[in-house]
Amino acid sequence: MRDKLLKLMPEFDLIQDQKLREKTIRVWEVAMERGGWTPDTIVQMPFTLLINPCPANFVEHVRAVTLTAYRAAQLFGEIYGERVPIDMDILLAGGLLHDVGKLLEYEYRGDVTAQTPYGALMRHPFSGAALAYEFGLPMEVQHMIAAHAGEGDKLKRSPEATLINKADFMSFEILRDLQIKKESSARLG
Ligand SMILES: [Fe+2]
Repeated sequence: MRDKLLKLMPEFDLIQDQKLREKTIRVWEVAMERGGWTPDTIVQMPFTLLINPCPANFVEHVRAVTLTAYRAAQLFGEIYGERVPIDMDILLAGGLLHDVGKLLEYEYRGDVTAQTPYGALMRHPFSGAALAYEFGLPMEVQHMIAAHAGEGDKLKRSPEATLINKADFMSFEILRDLQIKKESSARLG
C-alpha cells in the first residue's frame, strides 16, 4: 500500500524532516485502513460530496491544495524573504493531511461515495485533527487540519493554516462554479 500511495502523492517526499514525513504517511495509511479505502479507490473518490458530479478526485484535490500553498509560500519567500517566515515542512504535512479525515467521513459503496454516520457527527476537520493527535503530529499540523474549513473561521489561523485554507477554497469554489455553469448551460440547451 505504501509504495502505491507514495507514487500517487510524490509530495510526501518534499517533507525534509524524516520523522514528520513518516508520521504524515502513517496517518494516511491508518486512515485508509480504518475507512476501508485503497490506493485504487481513493482515485475514484470525489474530493467532496458538495459538487455532484465532482470533476476531481480526492488525490488530485489534496495534491492541488498542498502544491498551491507550497508554491505560494515559495513565492512569498522570494519576495518578502524573512519578513514572512513559513515553515515549509509544517505547511506540507498540514496540506497533505488537511482532508485526511475524509477517509473516515466518506465510505466507498461501489459506484457511490457516501457520508458515514461518524462523518455526519464528526466532519473531517475534527476526525483529521484527532488522527494527527493520535499519531503525534505537531500541534501546528493539528491546528491546520482543524482550522482549514468553515469550522476554523473562529480560530486565529497560523500563516501555514491560512495558506491551506485559501488554497482549499480556491480549488473548491472554482470547481463548484464550473460545475454550476456546466449544468445551467446544459439546461438552457
Ligand atoms: Fe476539507
